[in-house]
Amino acid sequence: MDYLEIKGGNKLSGTVTISGAKNAALPIIAGTLLSDKPITLTNLPNVVDIRTLLKLLTMLGAKVSHNKTVATIDNSSINSTKAVYEIVSQMRASILVLGPLLARFKECEVSLPGGCAIGQRPIDLHLKALEAMGATIEIKGGYVKAVAKDGLKGAKIVFDKITVGGTENIVMAASLATGTTTILNAAKEPEVVQLCEMITSAGVKIEGIGTNELSIEGTGGKALNFKEVEIIPDRIEAGTYLCAGAITNSSITLTKVNHQHIRASIDKLEAMGCSFELKDNSITIHPTSTIKPVNLITLEYPGFPTDMQAQFMALAVMAQGESMIEERLFENRFMHVSELNRLGADIWLKGSISAVKGVEELYGADVMATDLRASSALVLAGLVAKGTTKVRRIYHLDRGYDDLEGKLSALGAKIVRKKEA
Ligand code: EPZ
Repeated sequence: MDYLEIKGGNKLSGTVTISGAKNAALPIIAGTLLSDKPITLTNLPNVVDIRTLLKLLTMLGAKVSHNKTVATIDNSSINSTKAVYEIVSQMRASILVLGPLLARFKECEVSLPGGCAIGQRPIDLHLKALEAMGATIEIKGGYVKAVAKDGLKGAKIVFDKITVGGTENIVMAASLATGTTTILNAAKEPEVVQLCEMITSAGVKIEGIGTNELSIEGTGGKALNFKEVEIIPDRIEAGTYLCAGAITNSSITLTKVNHQHIRASIDKLEAMGCSFELKDNSITIHPTSTIKPVNLITLEYPGFPTDMQAQFMALAVMAQGESMIEERLFENRFMHVSELNRLGADIWLKGSISAVKGVEELYGADVMATDLRASSALVLAGLVAKGTTKVRRIYHLDRGYDDLEGKLSALGAKIVRKKEA
């Protein structure tokens, strides 16, 4: 198993290019199943999760050619509609094939994803919505078996809770349904918006894109013909590099970013004392030698993203004063707290709220990555910790950060990937 060895204390400088968004690319790759014609996707991040989903499509019979950031997917020869446990258990986002497979082939089987490090993450809302659209759902042998013999029908869906993946699955299902589907309490994350735009580019009418109320006019079973899609920049990767600039008190520039998508992170960093220079699609962070404490609550977009909570906690550890961080989306997304405390942080945790008392210094230690964003928080802490930090179980990082150690090294960080003896 690989680990990252970081020697803390180096300043960063220079420019880093932000990759395409993993969480935009995954639903878009699943969405290609709505088509029986080849489609090319560009600006894909070169990460494990993308390869996992492409592998799943290949197992279903798709012809996929993939080279780092570009993939051409031809779903004209799908010969299986079963998403097997071996893949779904590696990556929960595989559940995103449920909506498009059911819509196009009228039946499918998708393994239930099972447990997750950040919370229970049920898929009840996806299933309830598909049932409202006329599907019969049965859970047997660890699989969701979904059937809609006469095709899916438009319906009025009211999500009890805002769900990104649920909205994406239902938008995809609705695009081939008969009639109009309305989704109330829909997610409006930029990744959902890009999926909707991909579908509208194929001629499907979707109203309310980017709002909490979507209305989708389905094609009545007719497969879609997509145009090439360039994946939007990864707002979480961008936010992570802004935190790297802030925590190391370094000025760095990020290129290929969408300023609007990272507004919540910029606002909080400004509240912590950082300043920014924004140009067309780049942003330069000018940090502050005295990081101010911050209060933040994770919320759905455009609120502060749960996927940035751990990285901001690492930054808050170095602030002068006490920060309060509340996690509202996932019930168990604080696994990094005890690992940060091993590096010398002073974080108190009760339920979904943590109090972070700023400390003068952190000290390198061996720490364990527990999920994707928790891992990047540990790397950020390692960049400023005195001595050597070893971050283990970095397969979590490889799932979602494109060449993290390469990009950080190019900025001047002392970070190397090593193999366990
Ligand atoms: C997406 O997960 C992202 N993953 C997550 O990113 C992100 O943290 C999350 O949205 C929230 O922004 C992808 O896009 C691939 P949800 P998703 O459904 O869609 C509950 C990362 O690090 N819920 O919006 O699975 C759920 O338990 C990852 O890149 C139900 O109760 O998230 C959670 O509490 C991790 N029933 C809340 O809703 C359901 O049927 C929001 O989850 C579905 C969800």
